[in-house]
Amino acid sequence: MRTVFWQDGQVKMIDQRLLPGEEVIASFPTVPEVARSINEMYVRGAPAIGATAAYGMALAARLSQAENVDALLDDLRRAKDTLDAARPTAVNLSWATTRLLTLAEEIAAAAPSSPASADNLRQALLDEAEALADEDVRINRRMGFNGAEVVPEGANLLHHCNTGSLATVDFGTALGVIYACHEQGKNIHVWVDETRPRLQGARLTAWELMRAEVPMHLIADNAAGHLMRTGQVDVVVFGADRVAANGDVANKIGTYKVAVVARENGIPVYCVAPTSTVDLDLPDGDHIPIEERGPEEVAEIGARAIAPTDVPVYNPAFDITPFRYITGIVTEEGICYPPFDQSLRAAVQRGRAAIEAERSERK
Ligand code: MRU
Repeated sequence: MRTVFWQDGQVKMIDQRLLPGEEVIASFPTVPEVARSINEMYVRGAPAIGATAAYGMALAARLSQAENVDALLDDLRRAKDTLDAARPTAVNLSWATTRLLTLAEEIAAAAPSSPASADNLRQALLDEAEALADEDVRINRRMGFNGAEVVPEGANLLHHCNTGSLATVDFGTALGVIYACHEQGKNIHVWVDETRPRLQGARLTAWELMRAEVPMHLIADNAAGHLMRTGQVDVVVFGADRVAANGDVANKIGTYKVAVVARENGIPVYCVAPTSTVDLDLPDGDHIPIEERGPEEVAEIGARAIAPTDVPVYNPAFDITPFRYITGIVTEEGICYPPFDQSLRAAVQRGRAAIEAERSERK
């Protein structure tokens, strides 16, 4: 089943807040509700957030009472603002809303204002959201098999956060590499970082890998350094919420510490992310906005207090790993190596051309 999908005129998704205890599908019938699903992390993971936002734009078009294209475009611009504000770090969110709004503007520029063309536009946006979701699954499989090439037979991998089917429409990014190795029969084993404070590793990655029967052990985040120093990790893999033009990577808090210790121990570090996660407009990681989330994520576990009442908490949700700690960035367009400013730009250009080619084929 897909993590997020369109059904009966609503955006539907697995409620990831309840996993692994309960598998519940939540429905979101309005644009502010879709934004809430992202902000409150019913859905999370950069590509899954992007697909959700794309369906949010299709929903905005469907719910708009506009009778002409100009009024519909105004409603879409308002919806984009609402959706983009839901979470700041994953660039896939604004990448997806921009893609749908740009398409709407292109169609509007080519069509006269009339009720019929507003309806055509509504259908075109839903088709584009569905295409984006389908494309995510195809891209993830390509990326996974690209990354599998650098994972040796019998390797022990260390993985941070959740980057699997749940973080995407299906298959995943860094976990996609692990699934590809498993499909190839490579006999790998995965160390799963629990990933405090929200425990995406313990709750989601462990759940996914156990279902897929990939050999794994869950570890406390603090165990990762020990495992790396004692030769029990061959490759580190993680995803990204945003990659700057120079190859600096924003990813789940704790990624930086893992990458630095890996470098100290001579272990290769691969970031796995689609070209939609690369933000060529930002020169380096210092320009990436880092989300700060509520104190309860640190001071409580499962709504149970683990710290004194009213303890002051600082809770940045992401960190920046400078490009010098990263061996390669695996994309659907191949593996980018340093100098990343050149290799990433070329991959993004190929990725954009592929989307355009696919769109022309659909016409
Ligand atoms: O706060 P989250 O759970 O949305 O953070 C997710 C991550 O940091 C993932 O590692 C990242 O989105 C890449 S996953 C495809």
